[in-house]
Amino acid sequence: MNIISILEKKRKGDSLNQDEIAFFVSSYVNKEIPDYQMSALLMAITIQGMSDEETFFLCDAMLKSGEQLDLSDIQGTIIDKHSTGGVGDKTTLVLGPLLASCGFKMAKMSGRGLGFTGGTIDKLESIPGLEVTMSFDAFKKQVQDIGFALVSQMGNLVPADKKIYSLRDVTGTVDSIPLIASSIMSKKIASSASFLVLDVKVGEGALLKTVEEARRLAFLMIKIGKRYNRKVICILTSMEEPLGYTIGNALEVKEAISMLKHEETSKDFYTVVMEIASLFLIEERNISKEEALKILEEEIASFRAYDCFKKFVQYQKGDISLIEKAPFVLSIQSEKEGYIEKVHALKLAELARNLGAGRLEKGDTIEPSVGFVLRKKVGDFVKVGEELIEVHYKKDVCPKEDILACFQIGSEKKCPQLIYEVLR
Ligand code: URA
Repeated sequence: MNIISILEKKRKGDSLNQDEIAFFVSSYVNKEIPDYQMSALLMAITIQGMSDEETFFLCDAMLKSGEQLDLSDIQGTIIDKHSTGGVGDKTTLVLGPLLASCGFKMAKMSGRGLGFTGGTIDKLESIPGLEVTMSFDAFKKQVQDIGFALVSQMGNLVPADKKIYSLRDVTGTVDSIPLIASSIMSKKIASSASFLVLDVKVGEGALLKTVEEARRLAFLMIKIGKRYNRKVICILTSMEEPLGYTIGNALEVKEAISMLKHEETSKDFYTVVMEIASLFLIEERNISKEEALKILEEEIASFRAYDCFKKFVQYQKGDISLIEKAPFVLSIQSEKEGYIEKVHALKLAELARNLGAGRLEKGDTIEPSVGFVLRKKVGDFVKVGEELIEVHYKKDVCPKEDILACFQIGSEKKCPQLIYEVLR
């Protein structure tokens, strides 16, 4: 097969067939195609798009580039959730224990953060001692025993995605819908869950900026899921402001723990967790949303979900009492009175990353304790001198003016929409 003619075909906007896509992906994984030719294909796909059929072929080729987990000896419904990535998104840390305490089995693999979005594995590693790798047998046993395990890697799953994703990150091809769909679905199919809820984030702090784009991605992933006989539900949620009060690894873990301990939490974080969790219950038990929410509230109020989280941390050898605190904490007050009209999620995430909460480059070390605690969210009223945000940092300089500029304060009380749609 001729590599250049495949590239030219896609560049002109013609469809590639299954053999061409499979050949390109397998040759790239086997190092027979160099990065620059794969980069050219990714750019052509980003510009010209792909049909649903081509996207399925791409997903399938990526899936077949590695192993697939066999979790068939675990009893119960094996579920998974995935978020397309956002700022302050710590929902997995609550959803895993909460759904496990409802009887589901969540066998989850997550990634590290690169760019502005945080990775669940980085958040977990802010719990001292917590191991994010284990043998396949230990993983299955933990899921069977307590209903929830969360690791960074298991087997050689979808090596094509690992190689292609790092290339997309540096070639301006991250926000292509067929590339996102094939990346997410190849990993989800390989990890063997039979029922998936995919949280497609929309807005300034997300990969996709409009509901229309998010809807296209959602329908595509549902369609791919059907071809592999998986139940897939997509929920479109807003990422116009950071989710919850915290940004930064240890701070986000503490916020997740607060919710599991039935302490006061931010309304948006609570709502997204409950909406996603209820989708699993409604579908599996054929009950109403009200009934599902009642069950979930009871799992939290009774501390059963928190007990499951503690068991999970214990199984993975972590110690939450040792979570580190940042040496410096600065409270920043508002210089203006009015309603918070906007909190720039992307800008705040970048500032948190620059303070050490994330990586600028692969291999950079993360400062787990660094980040922000928002004291005001969109729609809240703030007076001059009232606290807007708390900065937790390690360096001796804090970019106070840049942080203040992330808040837009005006006369309009906004009630941002949080959940746009549920698609199945
Ligand atoms: N998450 C993924 O796993 N892949 C993408 O391409 C985007 C978000």
